Formats: sequence, C-alpha cells, structure tokens
Amino acid sequence: MSKGTFYITTPIYYSSGDLHIGHTYCSVAVDVMARYKRMQGYDVMFLTGTDEHGLSVEKSAISAGVSPKEFVDNLLYKDGGIMSLWKLMNISYDRFIRTTDDYHVTSIQKIFRALYDKGDIYKGTYKGLYCVPCESFWTQSQLSDGNCPDCGRGVEYAEEEAYFFRQSKYADQITELIGGYLEPASRVNEMMNNFLKPGLEDICVTRTSFKWGIPVDFDPEHVIYVWIDALSNYITALGYQNEKYDDFDKYWPCDVHFVGKEIVRLHSILWQAMLLALDLPLPKKVFGHGWLLLDGDKMSKSKGNVQDPIILAERYGVDALRYFLLREYTFGTDGNFTNELLINRINADLANDLGNLVSRTVAMADKYFDGTLPAEQEAKAADDELISMAAGLGDVFEANMDKYAYQDALIAVFKVTSRANKYIDETTPWVLAKDDSNNARLAAVLYNLLETIRICAIYLTPFMPHSCSIILTQIGASGDLTKYDSIQGFGGLPSNLTVSKGDVIFPRLDLQKELAELAGLAGK
Ligand code: ME8
Repeated sequence: MSKGTFYITTPIYYSSGDLHIGHTYCSVAVDVMARYKRMQGYDVMFLTGTDEHGLSVEKSAISAGVSPKEFVDNLLYKDGGIMSLWKLMNISYDRFIRTTDDYHVTSIQKIFRALYDKGDIYKGTYKGLYCVPCESFWTQSQLSDGNCPDCGRGVEYAEEEAYFFRQSKYADQITELIGGYLEPASRVNEMMNNFLKPGLEDICVTRTSFKWGIPVDFDPEHVIYVWIDALSNYITALGYQNEKYDDFDKYWPCDVHFVGKEIVRLHSILWQAMLLALDLPLPKKVFGHGWLLLDGDKMSKSKGNVQDPIILAERYGVDALRYFLLREYTFGTDGNFTNELLINRINADLANDLGNLVSRTVAMADKYFDGTLPAEQEAKAADDELISMAAGLGDVFEANMDKYAYQDALIAVFKVTSRANKYIDETTPWVLAKDDSNNARLAAVLYNLLETIRICAIYLTPFMPHSCSIILTQIGASGDLTKYDSIQGFGGLPSNLTVSKGDVIFPRLDLQKELAELAGLAGK
C-alpha cells in the first residue's frame, strides 16, 4: 500500500553541454531521495528537465549557425549531453520536461495571462541593469563591486517597454512564511537580510530585445522572462493549465525542490510570489544545497582535476561516484572537490571497509560451510554490540535521511560496517574453524555478519543501486529479503541461504598512479 505521495525536483538545467561534477551533485541527491522514498513505499514523482530559452541560447545558436531549437536539441541528445549523462548516472527520474515542449509553452502563456488579468502583471518601462549570462535584472544596490552578484560578470544598462510582476505585493506574506519552507536556516537569513528586509521590488518579466522565448500571446512582441517560464515547469509538468498531464492535484504542493545556492532567491521569493498570485499552495520545502568548488573557486576547466562526471564514472564506477558526492560533502554547505579526495574516499570506505567486509564474510561462509550455514548456532554476549548497532541503524538512518542529512545517514551505516569488521577480528572465525566442535559458534558469527551486511546493503541501495544488488546476491538474499520492509530488528535473514562468491565489488585504487593519470586527463 502506498504511504502517500512524494514530489521532488531538481532545477531544470541549462542544456549548456558541459555539465561538470557539480551539476551531477544535485541530480544524484534527488535521485537518492527518490529511490529511498520509493523503497519505503511512497508514490514518488521525480521531475527533472532542461531550461532552453533565453538570450544566451539565442546568441550561442547564432554563432553556431543553427536555429535555437536545433542548438538545444543537439546539446540534449549528443553523446555526453544531459540525456546520456543522466542515463549513465542511473538517475531514475519519472518525468523530464523541456521548456520548449508545446504543452509547457501553452501553460506559460495561460499563467502569464492569468497574472495579467488579476492585475499582478502590468505594463511599464524597464530602466535598469541586466546580466546577460544569468538573464537577471539587478538594482544598483544589489550589485557586487558593480557586477552581477550571482556570477560576478558585468551588467548592461537597458531601457525598454516591458511588463512587470507585482512581486512587492507579496513581500509581507513571504517574509512571514519563508522560515517555514526554506532550508537550511542559513539560507533564510541570507534571503531576509539581502532581499526581504531591504524591500522587494516589482520585477520586469518580459523582453523585446530577443526572440528565443515564449511570446506573450496577447502582445507577441514581448517574450516572457526566462525565470517565469523556468520556475513554472514544476507545475506545468504535472498538467497545470495543460492537457498533457493530469496529476497536478495528486502531487502539488511539492514536497521538496532541491536547488543550488545561487538560485535560492528565485525559488524562495519569486516562485512563492507567483504561486501566491495564482492562489496556489506553496512548496512544502525548498532546500538550498552548497556548491562543489575547485580550489575554493567556481568549477572551470584547466585546474588539474578531472571534473567530467563521465570520465570519473567510467573509471571508478557510477556507484562509487554517487556515494562519494553525498558522503564527502555536507549537503547544505560548499565543499572543495579534488581527485585525491575521491580516490581516498573510495579506498577507505568502499574498498577497505564495505568491500572487504563482504568479500571476507562470503569467502569464509563458502570455505567453512560450503556456502550454507548450519541451523544450529551458538550466540554469545560478544555478539550483542554488533547486533544492537545493526538493529538500531534504521532509526538513525531514517532520521537523517528525512532531514536530507545524507552524510550523517551514510556515516551511521559505515559505523556498523566498521564494527562488523572489528567483530571479525574479535571473533577470529579462522581460529574457530580449526575445530569442528566450534561449528555452532562459527555459524553464529557468520550469520551475524551476513545479516549485518544485508541490513547495510538495503540502506545503501538508494546510493549505490547496482553495487548493493550485487552485494545482496553474493550473500544469498533475494526477493523480499532485499526489501526495505524486511528489516525488522535483526535476524530476518534465514540461516539456510547459500552465499555465492563473486568478483571484488570495489577494487582498491593506487592513489599515486590514479592521480598521475587523472592529471593527464584534466581539462579535457
Ligand atoms: O540555474 N556545485 O541551471 P544551471 C553544485 N536553469 N551545484 C552546482 C554547481 C556546483 N559547482 N554548479 C551548478 C539553472 N550547480 C537554471 C535553473 S530551475 C527553475 C532553473 C547547480 O544548469 C546549480 O546550483 O545553471 C543549479 O542548482 C543546477 O546546478 C543547475 O544549474
């Protein structure tokens, strides 16, 4: 039976073609959450897509000598483009929206008209500063050293007839509500101090200086501001104001939008003002995650570290990369990315800890009992700590996952795998195996290890779906024994299952050799 619905989104990515490990971060985080919720029995809607309109796409298409639509189609479907990257990274989205999809275009025109009819969009003259790459308007006071506060690049003075959205009308409501939906709390302070306290201004929501966008249907010289177009994807993709889908009532309001820190403002102020103006409920949560940085700075090529997720995933495995991203960094804050951190993390946690635990346990069950443990088992007090840690893992894991604390959830699982490795050293199964009279004790030790592995592998499945399925197969668990609900305390694994030895799941990497080879690939 379904536990209810769970609607989660990534931002819609600019299909700019050179997605780096930082972009992959958000999609992996959403994917893990979607898989976790599905595993728990929720009816999940995981939405992602691409943001394809705007001046910079128009300019790039002109310089490439193709139409804007051809340009974005190519970026999306080319080898190494978003579609192939998400497939490689095992991103299990339920729906993919492109802002050039017809149904979305129709919905945006209806949304714009509804806001106009309500009096929340009006015509005026725009005079101000515009950042072309970010497609954002800024006031003088918002600039940082005279430049765009988001990207640091220069802004242009622009003046033209335009439509405006009455964002200011909703300032008080947003100020009152923002603490309830925006996380982490540090982002609430940022929004209050930088935008809400200084006072919200109405924003310009159309342009006439370029064409590549959705025209206002009752005034087609005007193209709708890309952020009105982009933010609305979260509802048009459910069928709001279109016939393509019909699950808006089922999934809205959204459980959580995951977004990077530079677009928190648009997702926690502009989006809410639009929804309030449309008389729609607000998303339950907006979570602003940090950035992955290179040498403390924005990601860019040429810095000596490979940051192409395709190269890294093909070299080290998709699961290892997914695990690394959510284990190494605290989700709400920035973190520095280096190839060394990646390799050290794979070696320490996956090869030495988890991988070693699985291969040692399976090899011993195979060697001492031909793969199938005897029913007779002798428990001892020495087992209690491991058993209680494994049995108590679910509570800690869920408490952390439910607040998007991926890192703490993973640390909790790996405390148990480390404890299990220590348990092997304490119980010395190879000594027990020397004398048949110890068979019942040896069987209990191996059983406790296999059941611990099963529990950990089930919790790790959303992070490393492929590897965990191999682990579960190696310990002989299949069907219901791999399901989330099968973890009820400790002891769900029948003792008569047969393990099957397999290949090493996470091979140990030679740090120096890898770094040298990656240095050769960096910037490519
Ligand atoms: O902003 N580390 O698209 P986008 C972590 N189209 N996250 C990063 C990152 C990094 N180094 N670099 C980028 C857009 N991101 C809009 C969204 S939604 C209605 C419209 C994240 O392709 C970034 O923070 O520039 C953002 O959340 C996402 O990648 C997409 O960025």
